[in-house]
Amino acid sequence: MTKKDRLYLVLYIFITLLAATFVFLVVLPKDETLPPSSDIPGIPVIQGSPRTQSNAILAIPDLPPGEPQPGKVLLGEKLFNDPRLSSDSTVSCATCHDLSRGGADGRKFSVGVGSALGDFNSPTVFNTVFNFRQFWDGRAHTLSEQVSGPLTNIAEMASNWAIAVRRVSEDSEYRKAFGHEYGGEISEKTIADAIAHFETTLITPNAPFDRFLNGDTAAISDEAKKGYRYFTSFGCISCHQGVNIGGNFFQRFGVMGNYFVDRGDPVKADLGRYNVTGREEDRYVFKVPGLRNVAVTAPYFHDGSVATLDQAIDIMGRYQLGRTLSEEDRRYLAAFLESLTGEYRGERLKP
Ligand code: HEC
Ligand code: HEC
Repeated sequence: MTKKDRLYLVLYIFITLLAATFVFLVVLPKDETLPPSSDIPGIPVIQGSPRTQSNAILAIPDLPPGEPQPGKVLLGEKLFNDPRLSSDSTVSCATCHDLSRGGADGRKFSVGVGSALGDFNSPTVFNTVFNFRQFWDGRAHTLSEQVSGPLTNIAEMASNWAIAVRRVSEDSEYRKAFGHEYGGEISEKTIADAIAHFETTLITPNAPFDRFLNGDTAAISDEAKKGYRYFTSFGCISCHQGVNIGGNFFQRFGVMGNYFVDRGDPVKADLGRYNVTGREEDRYVFKVPGLRNVAVTAPYFHDGSVATLDQAIDIMGRYQLGRTLSEEDRRYLAAFLESLTGEYRGERLKP
């Protein structure tokens, strides 16, 4: 063999090994332990782990890790926490999306610059990277597209891109970071991109329910197990499904009755998707919210109208399923929803 042949041989072996590793780690599905089916009475026995079987309705996938680009993430984190992006330098993204409080603000409606009251309850920013659209009415398609919304909303940051770009450009640390990450371009596009990068890291793995699905049968209480059974058998999961247990399509709020007439005082925000498309069939239609961490993001619904999970579950039963849930049903369902609280930076989320 010539020296060149040997080099080719070594290269060939290396590439083969690399391909085999890829197939093993990425292509072949993980074989996780199946929670004993007797633990979840009523749930059909599934071949393979609930996480790997093909019936997507029952499967609630594990949260995949984000793909952070460290420099952009750090820059995005700084921007996310920077009140200078708002008109009077008092309100940052974190004002309404407090990462130490479930990624929301705990209010019925958010309060922005000059104490202006918004029209919507603040959803959490955790795991929004898994939502198919952003906002209650899904008007933004991506996280970076979403950023302009709060920045310019008069009841939120009441700012505009000229202000934001100027304030960021005035800061030498930012200039350095943007130089490094975006070739010095400080613009709507790069600011939004950096914030979106940070948001892709706002993932909360390791909820007790995830540990349960991954085989730790003691990770959740018997009540939560019963709640999971009800969640699937009552049909909550037909809407709240997938990795975020929601966030992957639109549905009417009030399938089985007119929630808005019963609640009273209808406002424009209640029209949901209709405000985006103008189509009659989109009246009262909203993105189904993800239910991860829902126990720490009260109050609930786009109108922040109810303060407890118990009330939210009651309303869901009545208006989405046409079903009156007993106090016991609701308690089990709440125990299940409470088991969906995950961890951020190694700490369990708090309300
Ligand atoms: C004054 C409070 C407030 C501020 C400041 C604010 N938000 Fe929000 N955020 C909200 C509210 C309220 C909504 C829901 C609005 C809607 O659906 O129309 C929301 C929605 C979102 C969503 C969509 C989540 C989902 O599940 O649909 C994301 C992502 C988000 N905000 C990120 C940000 C970022 C990034 C910033 C800073 C640039 C920011 N927010 C600033 C209150 C705020
Ligand atoms: C037909 C679809 C559908 C079904 C079935 C359904 N939901 Fe919902 N759920 C929604 C929609 C849409 C919303 C958002 C409503 C709004 O605020 O506009 C929602 C909101 C919620 C919320 C409030 C989340 C938040 O962050 O404010 C909870 C909790 C909830 N659902 C739990 C349940 C439970 C438990 C069940 C079963 C008893 C259930 N849902 C059944 C569509 C559904």
